[in-house]
Amino acid sequence: MPVTVIVGTQWGDEGKGKIVDLISKDMDIVARYQGGHNAGHTVIVGDMEVVLHLIPSGILHKGKKCLIGNGVVVDPKALIDEIEMLKKNGIDVDSQLFISKKAHLIMPYHKVIDLSMEAIKGGKKIGTTGRGIGPAYTDKASRLGIYISDLLNPEIFREKLAINIEQKNSLVKNLFGKEPFDIDQIFNEYIAYAEVIKKYFVDAKLFMREAILAGERILCEGAQGSMLDVDYGTYPFVTSSNTTTGGVCTGLSIPPKYIDRVLGITKAYTTRVGEGPFPTELLDETGEILRKEGGEYGATTGRPRRCGWLDMVVLKNAVWLNGLDGIVLTKLDVLDNFRTIKICEGYKYKGTIFKDMPDELEIITNGEPVYREVEGWMARSAGVTDYKDLPAKAKDYIKLIEELSATPIRIISTGKQRSETIEL
Ligand code: GDP
Ligand code: IMO
Ligand code: MG
Repeated sequence: MPVTVIVGTQWGDEGKGKIVDLISKDMDIVARYQGGHNAGHTVIVGDMEVVLHLIPSGILHKGKKCLIGNGVVVDPKALIDEIEMLKKNGIDVDSQLFISKKAHLIMPYHKVIDLSMEAIKGGKKIGTTGRGIGPAYTDKASRLGIYISDLLNPEIFREKLAINIEQKNSLVKNLFGKEPFDIDQIFNEYIAYAEVIKKYFVDAKLFMREAILAGERILCEGAQGSMLDVDYGTYPFVTSSNTTTGGVCTGLSIPPKYIDRVLGITKAYTTRVGEGPFPTELLDETGEILRKEGGEYGATTGRPRRCGWLDMVVLKNAVWLNGLDGIVLTKLDVLDNFRTIKICEGYKYKGTIFKDMPDELEIITNGEPVYREVEGWMARSAGVTDYKDLPAKAKDYIKLIEELSATPIRIISTGKQRSETIEL
């Protein structure tokens, strides 16, 4: 079993951090393949709660190697803050962390452009995390990006920076009416960061090749969720990377033939942060209860998450796009006190019911969810660790999800702690 992939099947925040941490005990390497510090992955062990944004969620396991792949965009300041936070918690980051030399940098101008673009879009904004993710990937695709390892060569770094500063200054001045960037200030700031992080740089394709050929067990940790994928999500209300399994190959130099298990992390209901269509969103008291019971506030930005029922159109879409071998169902306990629970089986749009994710944003935005209503269990699943101890109606809910998605549920999460888990 060399390579296992974990992806979010919804709009992010499905509980990937908890599950990656849980599975890491059986792994040698945990690696991030896309995204950046827009992610917020919560890991709770005993009294310690850690939110990881950039560093893989396997880092709390002593001796496990954690790789930030070339597909990730790295803000070195955010990275250093996270390293310091982990070191304060007694984690031996220096022996565990590795960063691809070909990861691209997030620069101060990326953040300014991200926030300014959102501001000028006004009512049409995406609701980004404001971390500069989109503009950093834009530069990568438009061949203006700067590798993290360019910091090791001040001449090359300055040359690339100069081209960017000239272009970005014209943009911020003319489009946003903002102050221009000072090349010396950014140059000096980033060269100083390099001193702290250069010890982690590796040739990640060799790192991966050696690990895979040596039979090491690798866990790839997706960030965001399948509905935020730049190709398959609710574009343009998406993030700027391939969050689905395909991103693993390009973001970590893992050839597809080595991927042999893909698990889709699925919340027992649905949440979304930021703007964009969300067919099963509940704008009523039930949505409020889900938010309160589930503690649905962003781990990165603190924004209240939008909440709604489980959407099988979304889940079935993720099953195919990612090639899911199994589902990990999280936050089942949050539904413990609901008399009735709904599952969306399709979107009704102009008389037609769409059971598969439509390509048209218009249908996703204005389609009416078609629900199947089931009885809630009104009993404790919270903290249950053995399948047989689950309330009967909770088991029915689990079986229904398996049946409708045609995919087995492998793990059920019944609480925040590592131990509050049922492994099937
Ligand atoms: P991620 O981005 O997918 O890693 O998810 P987040 O960490 O952003 O959000 C998931 C939240 O739910 C975190 O606060 C977790 O501690 C919490 N959580 C994870 N699994 C469970 C669960 O089974 N039950 C409950 N009640 N909370 C959970
Ligand atoms: P994890 O890994 C939930 C959302 C933002 C916004 C859109 C684009 O914790 O699940 P970006 O800053 O990426 O350009 O924002 O994507 N978003 C997330 N939503 N969880 C995340 O990560 C997210 N990362 C980005 O809210 O709607
Ligand atoms: Mg999160």
